[in-house]
Amino acid sequence: MKKMESLQGGETCPKTAAINSNIFLIGFMGSGKSTISACFKKNYGMDVVEMDDWIARREGMSINEIFRVRGESYFRDAETGLLRELQDRTNTVISCGGGTPLREVNVAEMKKSGKVFLLTASPRTIYDRVKGSRDRPLLEGHKNVEYIAEMLESRRDRYEAAADVIIETDHKNASEICAEIMKYLQ
Ligand code: S3P
Repeated sequence: MKKMESLQGGETCPKTAAINSNIFLIGFMGSGKSTISACFKKNYGMDVVEMDDWIARREGMSINEIFRVRGESYFRDAETGLLRELQDRTNTVISCGGGTPLREVNVAEMKKSGKVFLLTASPRTIYDRVKGSRDRPLLEGHKNVEYIAEMLESRRDRYEAAADVIIETDHKNASEICAEIMKYLQ
């Protein structure tokens, strides 16, 4: 199971009605996708698909092992395949991998069944959230603010182009972020 980095403050969200579409959470590693998904599940009763966990379970390997044994492009194909399978869902929060929106075909799949929310955070915040984790092969050996800032910058345009809405997460707790997202769905 994906470990969640904690955001600022408390983690409770107000309850609300189910939604007819889906919420796709995109953003860099450590931007808070898993934490916000868990908040939606706990407090709004929504279903959650944690893409990395689903792929790892199916492959019977950790994300690190998939990258090492099968290679990154195999993993990227698995992401596209999973998004296609999710088309019939509603009331689901899909927590995408950090690289999922980098493929245009993936973004097109997301838009067919939901709204895409980009979670953003500063490189320093991201570093603080990911520094203790060992399950992100693309950051192994480069876990520092400068590298994160560079990688973030190289992805920024594609992240922003994929997003229907951009949500800044620095200095907000999960509850505030969930509520902010829900406002765009009502
Ligand atoms: C990746 C992010 C990871 C995971 C894989 C690749 C990326 O997901 O999918 O290690 O390319 O940014 P998280 O963003 O959930 O850490």
